[in-house]
Amino acid sequence: MKRFRRLRTNENMRSLVRETYVSKNDLMYPIFVIEGNNIKDEVSSMPGIYRYSVDRLDEELERIKSSGIRSILIFGIPAHKDEKGSEAYNDNGVTQTAIRHIKKKYPRLIVAADVCLCEYTSHGHCGVVHDSCIDNDETIELLCKMSVSMAKAGADIIAPSDMMDGRVEAIRSALDKEGFINIVIMAYSAKFSSAYYGPFREAADSAPQFGDRKSYQMDVANGNEALREIETDIEEGADIVMVKPALAFLDILKEASLTYNMPFAVYNVSGEYAMVKAAAEKGWIDEKKIVLENMTAMKRAGAKIIITYHALDAAKWLEEQ
Ligand code: PBG
Ligand code: ZN
Repeated sequence: MKRFRRLRTNENMRSLVRETYVSKNDLMYPIFVIEGNNIKDEVSSMPGIYRYSVDRLDEELERIKSSGIRSILIFGIPAHKDEKGSEAYNDNGVTQTAIRHIKKKYPRLIVAADVCLCEYTSHGHCGVVHDSCIDNDETIELLCKMSVSMAKAGADIIAPSDMMDGRVEAIRSALDKEGFINIVIMAYSAKFSSAYYGPFREAADSAPQFGDRKSYQMDVANGNEALREIETDIEEGADIVMVKPALAFLDILKEASLTYNMPFAVYNVSGEYAMVKAAAEKGWIDEKKIVLENMTAMKRAGAKIIITYHALDAAKWLEEQ
């Protein structure tokens, strides 16, 4: 008889053979910054997650610092939205102002800037719209301007989440041309058109005003195509590649991470967070155990970086273990 249970006899034996660990160093925490004054506004579908104005942001930065989390992903919500999302590439826009503030206070905190137009456009689409179609190449020009503007403000990582074709190559060369040769690109490479983004769109005020995102985000059913998207972003110069969302797409992450020797990120998105929070509030699940189990699964599937709204809580729980 094979006695697998020998290695399960007690915690010390189990930890000796444990294959996967989650570390605080793996976690990246998303934050929302909204234009205006004296705002701290809880996102109703994401308990514990707030939209802060820059003047109130220090409270959140303090929490991040004391948690020991070393990287954040920033989303800005401008007061003014227009057809071409011009606040996205305004050097004095809300996101740029927030990044400058953060880097001045905490120069070593890694700041990733999400690059996409949907929080900045009046129609809520991730690109420029002509006759109800999203214009790929015109959008890319704006994403390049946005990336350079974020890099100028002090972002360490540019994270394009728009799913236009060819944007990684274009952004790399725009950054290089401006001298930003050491700015990292973390590409949302396999980003699926998912129902799990619902709460985020409330938080970022970015729901599309007509239609959906299916002409640019990936069909949930497609695994092979996800590998082609990832391969293309690697060829175009991405430093980190991402699969998003996490839990329903761990098969993609596993296959991709076995195929490509790259640092993989996975985005544990807003809907995944909301489900855990809702069930935990009802007392139906043990939040801490569920979150740590999910994160372990993400790492086991091949993630190095886990982008998660649970990051600050998880940092605490990981210390207690
Ligand atoms: C912007 C963007 C989205 C998310 C990250 N960047 C929303 C979307 O594509 O509609 C989703 C994050 C989340 O749900 O937590 N394109
Ligand atoms: Zn978008």
